[in-house]
Amino acid sequence: MTMQNEDLKVIDEARQGEAIQMLGLAGENKKKLFLESYGCAMNFSDSEIVASILIEQGFETTPVMEDADVILVNTCAIRDNAESRVRQRLYDFKKVKRTKPELVIGVLGCMAERLKSQLLDEEKLVDIVAGPDSYRDLPNLIGQVESGHRAVNVLLSREETYADITPVRLDKNGVTAFISIMRGCDNMCAFCVVPFTRGRERSRDPESIVNEAKDLFERGYREVTLLGQNVDSYLWWGGGQKKELETEVVHAAMNHTLPAEEQSKFTTFADLMELVAQVSPQLRVRFSTSNPRDMTDAVLHVIAKYDNLCKYVHLPVQSGSTKVLGDMNRGYTREQYVQRVEAIRRILPGSAISTDLITGFCGETDAEHKETLSLMEWAEYDFAYMFKYSERPGTAAAKKFTDDIPEEVKSARLTEIVDMQQKHSAKKTKEGVGKVHEVLAEGYSKKSRDMLYGRNSQNLVVVFPKENFKPGDYVNVTVTSCTGATLIGTGVKKVFN
Ligand code: 5AD
Ligand code: SF4
Repeated sequence: MTMQNEDLKVIDEARQGEAIQMLGLAGENKKKLFLESYGCAMNFSDSEIVASILIEQGFETTPVMEDADVILVNTCAIRDNAESRVRQRLYDFKKVKRTKPELVIGVLGCMAERLKSQLLDEEKLVDIVAGPDSYRDLPNLIGQVESGHRAVNVLLSREETYADITPVRLDKNGVTAFISIMRGCDNMCAFCVVPFTRGRERSRDPESIVNEAKDLFERGYREVTLLGQNVDSYLWWGGGQKKELETEVVHAAMNHTLPAEEQSKFTTFADLMELVAQVSPQLRVRFSTSNPRDMTDAVLHVIAKYDNLCKYVHLPVQSGSTKVLGDMNRGYTREQYVQRVEAIRRILPGSAISTDLITGFCGETDAEHKETLSLMEWAEYDFAYMFKYSERPGTAAAKKFTDDIPEEVKSARLTEIVDMQQKHSAKKTKEGVGKVHEVLAEGYSKKSRDMLYGRNSQNLVVVFPKENFKPGDYVNVTVTSCTGATLIGTGVKKVFN
């Protein structure tokens, strides 16, 4: 189970460019929206908010681009090729606009935020540029275009979390859903464009998060993934930004070391996980992404306490070299990272761990690259997302360092880490054979309607005979074989009755 070249995006490559398909046919008088999404899970989650805002305004969505009155594309800027892919796609939209001049085309998300009005100059047929914090303004922006003006809103907010908007669920299985728990990022990793495109970190009111989880559960959903750029950094004390508080207070609150009365004013990520875990033992909870610099043992102990908190931690390391980690401004050394992995193995035995890795960061020597390989050899990740470094304009790395590793070297190093990861992933998958796994059924296997697929707590995909089961059921599956990254089960037994 590996994702290798940098075309592949974090979370779910299969969903890239997915258009919303739901709510049946658009009514006679309703305007039709075609909304397509790229990038990370957070972006897909944002698209659900965009759809919700526009449906409220009388729009209906269409899966057919040619039928649309408005085309919106929610974009990613994390690597250069994420942006090239969107520019390529704009050509298709432009063809439709040639035959339908009143068509409104909008670019949303991280690429919109990065390029701002420059995008209007570069892509002449784009009418709207809207950054991640401006989606409430979309009806107004569309109105401006209809009255003959091009429209830009790339203001980043200190408060916006869209907490009061119930997202329209665009995932099709009705079993798993994303819940955004925070927005933005304050980490300032040297390579990363996210702090510039998504702004300052802010946490969402825990009550609205728990209510969203409850509502999903009541509607038949059985798994939620809590999303944030750095979930361990989640902190709620009634709103506001962390920098308004003293650093020591933030640190103590996150580590649960304040006097009880003080501590009770804060909701940390560990507290939030506990609140969501208590919605129902039948609601699985996942979370992404953890950050080695902020992940506390308190979070790990909560995960250990509840069966429905999934035993799977995505803990990006980026590099195995302390020197490179320093240049990347990651805020931890190789040794500190190793200690975090050891804490996971100690507190959550049997948990899966995955990571993100970048090859060819500025100045990375062959010896430093080998340190990444040796760390991988030690950690034996279950899964990894691996990328070649792609310089992003405006980032600290772009300003301070030279992107000096030749493309062939980046590629050769990527191949080496991908090969190693494939070996580890295959080993981990094989270890699952001969065991019984608790699987949440998510849908029918693509290959056969007689088979269901789902995942175990460690996030491995398991395919098994349907028998009398249906998506949303928890089943104990005896796994008898595997192919690549998938476990194949035979014996099946229901878990909850
Ligand atoms: N080049 C390559 N990969 C990057 N990532 C983030 N920024 C860059 C970049 N400029 C990767 C990191 C991060 C993941 C979401 O994308 O590995 O964890
Ligand atoms: Fe998501 Fe980052 Fe891409 Fe924005 S730039 S869509 S936050 S991965």
